Amino acid sequence: MLAIIGGHGLTELANLEITHRQVMRTPYGEPSGAFLFGTLNQQEVIFMARHGYGHTIPPHLVNYRANLWALREQGVSKVVSISTVGGIRTDLTPGTLVVPDQIIDYTHGRDATFYDTRDAIYTNANFTLPYCPQLRAHILRSASIAQQPCLDGGVYAATQGPRLDSIAEINRYERDGADMVGMTGMPETTLAMELDLNYAIIAVVVNYAAGRGDNKQGINMERVNATANAAMEQVRGILECVVGRNGD
Ligand code: HPA
Repeated sequence: MLAIIGGHGLTELANLEITHRQVMRTPYGEPSGAFLFGTLNQQEVIFMARHGYGHTIPPHLVNYRANLWALREQGVSKVVSISTVGGIRTDLTPGTLVVPDQIIDYTHGRDATFYDTRDAIYTNANFTLPYCPQLRAHILRSASIAQQPCLDGGVYAATQGPRLDSIAEINRYERDGADMVGMTGMPETTLAMELDLNYAIIAVVVNYAAGRGDNKQGINMERVNATANAAMEQVRGILECVVGRNGD
């Protein structure tokens, strides 16, 4: 089964026909909120809101382990994650959708692995390709069928948040090779791999990163929210197609 993790601006899926809700418990605590079970385009899916349904959980306090563990317990094998980002690369302007293919981790102090005891047999997640190539291709094909432009590839810089970035930090991420910056890509990407989930991100550019484009003095949150809301309409269209063609 496929699951969708909604981020900022996507705490509900209007086109999801909900059959039931379920509160989950895991050895790692509780996920961000009840899981919504339902059908999208006649296919079964699970939806969950990463920041909680009232959008109260900041990126560094999301229980990423509980979220992914509980999804796997429900028989999920594929996860499409929706994340908002700031655009560093010049073509990543507000409103652009992009499916990243690489990530750099600048987060700290988060529970970033399931292997956190000294007596468990552990494996080293093979992070060469952090995202599932087949799921990425499936999303991009679906976007093209849904006639929603979506860019193929880019490097996601995952920052600790919840504060936004300084211009010097963005310059550094750019020198490191990053194309976009967001706060939730890590450790979600690693944890999904540790659980053998096929995982990919649709990143939604909601603002220019600090010092880029019109963001010389700071971010206008009202504009960010308006951009996120408009872009989420496109994301919903893509998701309908992703789910409908699930299993190709
Ligand atoms: N920086 C970090 N995270 C973000 C941004 C940003 O500019 N926009 C959305 N998430």
